[in-house]
Amino acid sequence: MQISSGVPGFDGLVDGGFPAERLYVVSGPPGSGKTTFCSQFAANGAKNGEDVLYVSMHETKEGIREDMGSYEFGFDRALDTDRVTFLDSFSSDGRRFFGLPGERRDSSGVTNRLTGFINSRDIDRVVFDSTMLLRFLLDDGEDTMIQLLSSLKRCSATTLLISEMTDPSAYSEEHYLAHGVVFLHNYLEDDGMRRGIQVLKMRGTGIDTDIQDVEFTDEGLHVGSAATLTH
Ligand SMILES: Nc1ncnc2c1ncn2[C@@H]1O[C@H](COP(=O)(O)OP(=O)(O)OP(=O)(O)O)[C@@H](O)[C@H]1O
Ligand SMILES: [Mg+2]
Repeated sequence: MQISSGVPGFDGLVDGGFPAERLYVVSGPPGSGKTTFCSQFAANGAKNGEDVLYVSMHETKEGIREDMGSYEFGFDRALDTDRVTFLDSFSSDGRRFFGLPGERRDSSGVTNRLTGFINSRDIDRVVFDSTMLLRFLLDDGEDTMIQLLSSLKRCSATTLLISEMTDPSAYSEEHYLAHGVVFLHNYLEDDGMRRGIQVLKMRGTGIDTDIQDVEFTDEGLHVGSAATLTH
């Protein structure tokens, strides 16, 4: 089964949508649209009546509501429904998951609590923003991420994991472990900043790996020129 990304123009690049119940990494430089892409994915799930878990290590619920509230895809409204559970590392619920700031974290506990929550609530879509901050918070060597990813891969949810690349030339273990990798680019050209999106891999699916133009519009990210898209 394939599920829609919620990003107009994207599903066609991956043969109709993300193969369900798998783990995908969304990577890219600062400001390239990772959080926006994943919020569209979360909002799309909520709109379809699916249960969504959104974990943010960076932002509070109010921060995301404010940032995504100017778009029309409705993640701000979805956040107020029972369909979406928002977990951040600042709230009391979040602290129960991730521990108190400054404390030494128990990384296998974090993994177990997360996967336990996903399985017991029968969550359909998960967004995790992001591995960089999780690595920093857990401060626990390389096995942490491998353990978390392996557990997430076994869950029956479809997961988007945001992974900043701290070294743009070096892939991390999550890029290899994930079923698919989506890259967001922003690069300078003679006439200014250009944005792009690229599917680097998608196991089991014929994909278009070319860099496609991507734009921010009132409806969020659009792959291709927004003017020529039908939706
Ligand atoms: N309506 C809009 N039109 C054009 N660009 C926009 C619009 N709204 C936001 N942006 C741009 O989108 C970028 C933020 O996107 P987003 O938060 O999804 O990126 P990100 O990859 O998650 O960034 P970070 O790595 O900092 O978390 C900002 O740089 C902002 O300039
Ligand atoms: Mg972000």
